[in-house]
Amino acid sequence: MSERLPILYNKQPCYDIVFTQTFEELVQELQAIDSKKQDGQMKNYLESRRICIITDTKVDELYGDEVLNLLRGKCLKAVKYAFPNGEEHKTLDTVKGIYSFLIKEGFDRKDLLVALGGGVVGDTTGYVAATYLRGVDFVQVPTTLLAQTDSSIGGKTGVDFDGYKNMVGAFKMPRLVYMNLAVLKTLDDRQFFSGFAEVMKHGLIRDALLYQWLIENMYEICDRDLDVLQEMLLRSCTVKKLVVEKDPTELGDRALLNFGHTIGHAIEKYKNFELCHGECIALGAVAAAYISWKRGMLSMEEYYEIRDMYVPFNLPISIENIDPAEILRLTKSDKKMESGQIKFVLLKKIGKAVLDRTVTDEEILAAIGEIYYSGEDAHA
Ligand code: GLY
Repeated sequence: MSERLPILYNKQPCYDIVFTQTFEELVQELQAIDSKKQDGQMKNYLESRRICIITDTKVDELYGDEVLNLLRGKCLKAVKYAFPNGEEHKTLDTVKGIYSFLIKEGFDRKDLLVALGGGVVGDTTGYVAATYLRGVDFVQVPTTLLAQTDSSIGGKTGVDFDGYKNMVGAFKMPRLVYMNLAVLKTLDDRQFFSGFAEVMKHGLIRDALLYQWLIENMYEICDRDLDVLQEMLLRSCTVKKLVVEKDPTELGDRALLNFGHTIGHAIEKYKNFELCHGECIALGAVAAAYISWKRGMLSMEEYYEIRDMYVPFNLPISIENIDPAEILRLTKSDKKMESGQIKFVLLKKIGKAVLDRTVTDEEILAAIGEIYYSGEDAHA
């Protein structure tokens, strides 16, 4: 059964997240955007618009034609643009390619972009939507767990630049986030579990009951039971909803969503994006939980429970072949710096994160030491 979570922006209804297990309801959800009566007739949002589905080559093979065929005949024109899969294509060059395609296809300000794919597709398409003709509508149709639980919600869009993640971007709210959870069945294990790191993050920073529920439903989640995944996403997205509604442009508490990301992004960059995002976030989360324990905010049992929770979800809790000093240096070049200070996210307790600007280099190095597997027994 479909479920719906409305997202507010400046306290006004802005867009809905729809959780379902098919693409079949996409057209009616799109038609209902801005639904209001005009001259006694219900306005159909689609019929006077061109639609460009923007996707990557991998998702295109799986779902591109299915979604395109659903939209054909329901709008002025429906076309599709696929760029190569992978974080290395989240660039201004890809944005340029999409601009050229939209110009060639005659897209104007009233038209609509549909981001069909994972975080790279969603962030890149959102950035095109924020900038093409000074802004056109877009909707998110996320096809990875990571995009469904995190990146498709909240209006952060952008691309990487010079090896720095999301260095160029804009806030641009989608008109709809449509999640067909059945797509999670075709995700490879690494991608699926990578997304789980962000679900865990939502439990740890804001919802101890969700964290507990994840422990209790571990087997069903790993088996990808769709009804359990739907409940998981509804609960996880509710955390994201509460955070982004309160602080849509990250002036304050939205930064709590960066739990695990300071050291995680540094590892991601150090390893040249060879690891999945969620794998790096799991490592960063273990490191941040370690600092929280050492500061007396978490008990030792809580720290080890958090750390060990990543293991059944195939996420790493240690890493080989890193240079801790270089990871420390990279944490300082991350955009989560403010006036030269790192905004670190720590756990005051499970389900309650806090921002801290006082974490020292020594604490960060000790935390990196905790996740660094050097081949020797680190705890000897
Ligand atoms: N993914 C972090 C945020 O949306 O703020």
